[in-house]
Amino acid sequence: MKIKNICCIGAGYVGGPTMAVIAQKCPEINVTVVDINADRIAAWNDEDVENIPIYEPGLSEVVKEARGRNLFFSTNVDSAIDKADMIFISVNTPTKTYGIGKGMAADLKFIELCARQIARVSKNDKIVVEKSTLPVRTAEALKNILDNTGNGVNYQILSNPEFLAEGTAVDDLMNPDRVLIGGDIENPEGKEAVEALVDIYAHWIPRERLLTTNVWSSELSKLTANAFLAQRVSSINAMSELCEKSGADVKEVSKAIGMDSRIGPKFLQASVGFGGSCFQKDILNLVYISKSLGLNEVADYWEQVIIMNDYQKKRFAYKIVQTLFNTVSGKKIAVLGWAFKKDTNDTRESAAIYVADYLLNEQAEIVVYDPKVKTEQIYADLDYLNTRSSEENRAQVSVVDTPYEATKEAHAIAVLTEWDEFKELDWEKIYNEMLKPAFLFDGRRLLERATKEKMGFEFYAIGS
Ligand code: UDX
Ligand code: ADP
Repeated sequence: MKIKNICCIGAGYVGGPTMAVIAQKCPEINVTVVDINADRIAAWNDEDVENIPIYEPGLSEVVKEARGRNLFFSTNVDSAIDKADMIFISVNTPTKTYGIGKGMAADLKFIELCARQIARVSKNDKIVVEKSTLPVRTAEALKNILDNTGNGVNYQILSNPEFLAEGTAVDDLMNPDRVLIGGDIENPEGKEAVEALVDIYAHWIPRERLLTTNVWSSELSKLTANAFLAQRVSSINAMSELCEKSGADVKEVSKAIGMDSRIGPKFLQASVGFGGSCFQKDILNLVYISKSLGLNEVADYWEQVIIMNDYQKKRFAYKIVQTLFNTVSGKKIAVLGWAFKKDTNDTRESAAIYVADYLLNEQAEIVVYDPKVKTEQIYADLDYLNTRSSEENRAQVSVVDTPYEATKEAHAIAVLTEWDEFKELDWEKIYNEMLKPAFLFDGRRLLERATKEKMGFEFYAIGS
């Protein structure tokens, strides 16, 4: 089976970059990315390719090459579904904020809406690919809806979880460690559908890295991968506090353990806490599934990864309060970095949001600088927490265009995202323009202690 037309529902951080790369690598396939958010689609279609809605190194070049040739962005969901042989579902699956499973389970509302729309519109057989991270056995629910509400059309459901990390999305897509494709491999039709997707990736990825499994293994592998990665971060963050109290340095500890080939060096960077749209959501989901199956010990084990992460964010904020003579009330604190990691404008679950919120509870005055995050996003993130009114957030928080404005006359600086540019700032000038003592809190182990202390900063870094 040769795929000629692909439709991707959801033009977000996953759908956008993934489809751009597929279109670039498979010029003979038409790829249409659709979204109900008209502003987002308009931004993807912006004449100036630098204005596409997602910032990822290298992405605008890929979009520039393929857009208008075989890559299209549209709000006409029905038409794209109708034409497609293969439909990727890349809509968001946030943690539920209401009802059963509130705060834990994934909200599958958007997925279900997509399934119903596909069932309503489709006139010929389709392969439906789950790209969004989903709880195990979602494919079954999808199939159920499609088979029972459709017009006699045959559907093959595949699970093809995305492992790209933001900030390196294009590289990860071009050169993935592996691509996982789950399908009904016991049956010839299922096998054929899996092969069709394998053929697409084989345009640029060596076959031995294309892994095929049954659907459930694929769905669970995605949750497991994220849980393991997050668990490493929480483990090293747990050690960071021990290091601070015992005189060890967490950087030295992670280097020492990372050289053990059984452990490996990645994901051992202590931080103010992990963020992003996946880790917390997927672990909560894993915890919820385990509890639902009566596996309480399994649930408790994974939940501890989240508990540790929440603790790390709180601990960092309290360290600031405690160091500033137990009060930050009315004090200006500069927050450098709002994104959940460098090289992205995504702020979902960013540690900065929570650290700022704790400091605002202590009546601090927060001034934020981030090179890529927009002002409205910062306010929206704080408003979403519902800790105080949106007017209060605007009164207590300001967002500025340069790090120097943020830090001028500040009592303290908190570095919360590891943007490279923060290493190169004129720290001498920053020091001179701050109130004294000038406190500098490095939540990312980004800055060199010796030079900052020599300038006169009171320096605190996670894990030393
Ligand atoms: C993650 C997974 O890596 C990716 O495979 C999956 O598809 C989606 O979730 P992402 O959230 O984009 O990707 O970024 P990642 O690089 O994993 O970082 C997640 C968070 O952990 C960030 O806040 C990052 O700063 C933090 N982190 C990561 C650390 O604090 N220390 C580390 O050593 C690594
Ligand atoms: P992710 O990080 O998983 O890509 P995003 O929130 O960035 O998540 O993107 C998901 C996109 O899916 C959003 O732009 C949203 O508007 C879109 N979306 C959600 N439901 C539907 C739907 N039923 N039809 C079309 N687009 C949808």
